[in-house]
Amino acid sequence: MLTGNAVEGLRTAFAGAGYTVDGVAERLGERANAALARNETAPAARRTGSGDALDTMIRLFLLQRAVPENLVSKAFPADDLVALGILERSGSDVKALLDVRPFAEDEREWWVVADLTPGLDGRREPMRSDYVLGIAPASLSLIHLTVPVKADRALDIGTGCGIQSVHLADRVNQLVATDVNPRALQLAAATAALNGIDLDLRDGSLYEPVRGERFDLIVSNPPYVISPPGGGLTYRETEFTGDAVVEQLVRQAPEHLTDGGWCQLLANWTCVRGEDWQERIAAWTADRSAWAVQREQLDPSEYVELWLRDAGLHGTPQYTTRYDEWTRYLDEQNVEAIGMGWITLHNVEGSLDAESWPYEIERPIGPHVLHRFERREGLPADLTALHLRVADDVIQETTGQPGAEDPATIVLRRQRGMRRAEQVDTVLAGFVGACDGELSTGQILAALADLMDRPIVDVLADYLPQIRNLVVEGFLNY
Ligand SMILES: C[S@@+](CC[C@H](N)C(=O)[O-])C[C@H]1O[C@@H](n2cnc3c(N)ncnc32)[C@H](O)[C@@H]1O
Repeated sequence: MLTGNAVEGLRTAFAGAGYTVDGVAERLGERANAALARNETAPAARRTGSGDALDTMIRLFLLQRAVPENLVSKAFPADDLVALGILERSGSDVKALLDVRPFAEDEREWWVVADLTPGLDGRREPMRSDYVLGIAPASLSLIHLTVPVKADRALDIGTGCGIQSVHLADRVNQLVATDVNPRALQLAAATAALNGIDLDLRDGSLYEPVRGERFDLIVSNPPYVISPPGGGLTYRETEFTGDAVVEQLVRQAPEHLTDGGWCQLLANWTCVRGEDWQERIAAWTADRSAWAVQREQLDPSEYVELWLRDAGLHGTPQYTTRYDEWTRYLDEQNVEAIGMGWITLHNVEGSLDAESWPYEIERPIGPHVLHRFERREGLPADLTALHLRVADDVIQETTGQPGAEDPATIVLRRQRGMRRAEQVDTVLAGFVGACDGELSTGQILAALADLMDRPIVDVLADYLPQIRNLVVEGFLNY
């Protein structure tokens, strides 16, 4: 699609005009930028009337406004872009047919090609079934979740506009991306070309296009929406029943991972009446080391409303029929709630940690995910010889009656990573307070046992499991 001169021309035009995340933010200013993030274009239109190349790019791609052809021709090799199906002529004006926007992360910057953002300025537009999603909040969640490892081979399943691939490109030797939507493959190819990225694009479902191959890193923001068959939006749903698309991705990951490889997915899963959702996911991850975090849980009605709104169906004649059909489908599968979150599988022997954690976390969380796995898998069985240090970001919060001599509760809170909070007793708080690297864990616990006049074996049995947890969660370092 985008090759040779056309790609060079477009890249040069974007760079020359300052069509970058900072360039756009500066041109629009804070208020118009924030309005645009809410899909409102009027404030941004007022700030982009100069007719220079940057204004033209913003108006065409981000505001989806028609721009006079003479201005477009000053900004771009316009004929090339019309021929490529990125722009179209309409009388003496030109409009964008695709969204091309700058995206920055970790001090790197790219341009990403996707379908136009739907619903600007409250417009209700039916989405085509092969719609190719641009950079969505979920795309960013997966980017932020990805562990910062170098990989010889990486796989991006359901690449869409190619956003995960561009993010991985500079730490991977060989990058394979798949999709079932031919338009997604085309747009991902355009994204890759525009950014000079070598991307091996393959057509097919889940692991089909990579049968017999192994990767060091697999990422997927899959079409996880749990909906009745015939939903029709390829970017978010499949013909798999219930949460089977996520189940297949997880179950088949180990046979496509190198030893010690990583698979990271965003996911929705069903919480089936009478079943533990944690056990459901544990059956998928089997004997591998894994961590599932449920960031949100919705009841079936909330879930259906969320995705009907996402498809722009709120207020349309088919809304109540679809609503009814969808909730009936979930009832038939005995679904009492739907969990939304992420799953990380590390291809070494181990077990699953599964938890609900709906609280604010640090972004990117990927470095902390890696750190937690390293601790969980690598801590020695006996912690007593370790010289621990309390992490810099830990604070202690105490609560209690005014004037009381001792606090009623003590909470240790991390400011970073998952921003965990752990309630501890005065002994454990004292232990953590003494962790400055001088004394070993065994020495500090022996001193505390002495102070409390308790047998050391009891103190070790009571506190070592809690100390292990504090080390895994990064409150204590060694
Ligand atoms: C939610 S979008 C994610 C796009 C992009 N990777 C991101 O992070 O924003 C899911 C993508 O999966 C693709 N897809 C749908 N069914 C698939 C399947 N069975 N196998 C592989 N990809 C599929 C869709 O076409 C879509 O591009």
